Amino acid sequence: MIGFARLALVAAVLAGVVVALPSLAQAVAPPKAPPVVAGPRAAAAPAVPAGAPAPGAAAVVARGRDLFVSGCSYCHGLDATGVRGRAPTVRGAGAESADFYLSTGRMPLAHPHAYPVRSKPAYPPADIRALVAYVGSLGGPPVPGVSPATAGLATGERAFADHCAGCHQVSARGGIVTGAVAPSLQRATATQIAEAIRVGPYVMPNFSEREIDGPTLNSIVRYVLSTRHPVDRGGWGIGHIGPIPEGMIAWIFAMGALLGVSRVIGERSEGVRPPPSGPEPSEPGSAASAITGGEVR
Ligand code: HEC
Ligand code: HEC
Repeated sequence: MIGFARLALVAAVLAGVVVALPSLAQAVAPPKAPPVVAGPRAAAAPAVPAGAPAPGAAAVVARGRDLFVSGCSYCHGLDATGVRGRAPTVRGAGAESADFYLSTGRMPLAHPHAYPVRSKPAYPPADIRALVAYVGSLGGPPVPGVSPATAGLATGERAFADHCAGCHQVSARGGIVTGAVAPSLQRATATQIAEAIRVGPYVMPNFSEREIDGPTLNSIVRYVLSTRHPVDRGGWGIGHIGPIPEGMIAWIFAMGALLGVSRVIGERSEGVRPPPSGPEPSEPGSAASAITGGEVR
């Protein structure tokens, strides 16, 4: 009985830990300081330079530079070449990297040594577009195109197992790597997944076209998106921890049910058992009266 209770407790705790792991990863992340608010100067639309090839685009870049000066230059420098001891250059990082860091709320960082984590974006979409256009105008790769709909799911699963699962787990629900938390991939958009693969944020390695080509990238994205609707054979996911622990939980429930049934049966049969002390009162026609009747005769 005690053995069973202990087994059930251990199983429950284990299941709890597995289910709570992704949220733990979020909890480990340091608190974010309030977002850097762009000053009033950022709101004033700058004049379009004369002779620019695309006037609309140039205005967006100029507005992006204004936002950069007020919100990013403390760490990345007024000319975006970086500040020693604070942050690297963003010249050559490209729209690809800027869009990833800004749309996942990783930039602006609260302080130079803070760990970049996913959070609510500090800027509205229009400002992010302007900042991305400005950083993109300084060189580097554009925001990658991604079309996962027609990509091969099996190829994606294999490539994910090869390149990503070591840190993010096969279920794409995150894990702990030395000195960092590999986040769950449940919130990243298709574009953000493609950007992360090419950029390699923080301690994550980046993957070139040679390591992961375009079609493979699309299939990895398709696989990651598919992990959000896993097939739970048997109905109840239990945190999608897999068939063995699920089977174990089924056994524990079955054992509990059987134990309950056997206890009920035990109590019922105790109720009909005759009291152990004293002989039963003899009645006419019973075995006892038949014997005495024999002696009299
Ligand atoms: C408090 C300091 C700080 C502020 C403010 C900040 N950054 Fe950063 N930024 C960093 C650090 C540190 C890194 C390197 C982190 C990493 O490698 O993941 C970084 C990395 C980046 C990168 C990636 C560079 C690459 O090589 O791919 C981009 C893009 C970027 N920041 C853009 C911005 C933008 C745009 C802003 C303003 C909205 C901003 N940052 C504000 C500190 C800062
Ligand atoms: C060495 C471990 C490691 C490997 C391998 C790795 N990652 Fe990462 N990944 C990380 C870490 C750590 C972060 C968080 C970086 C940060 O906070 O800036 C991350 C972040 C991400 C993000 C951003 C998630 C979000 O919600 O903002 C995506 C998407 C991602 N990785 C996808 C992948 C894919 C796809 C692969 C395989 C091609 C891969 N990663 C391989 C460690 C890894």
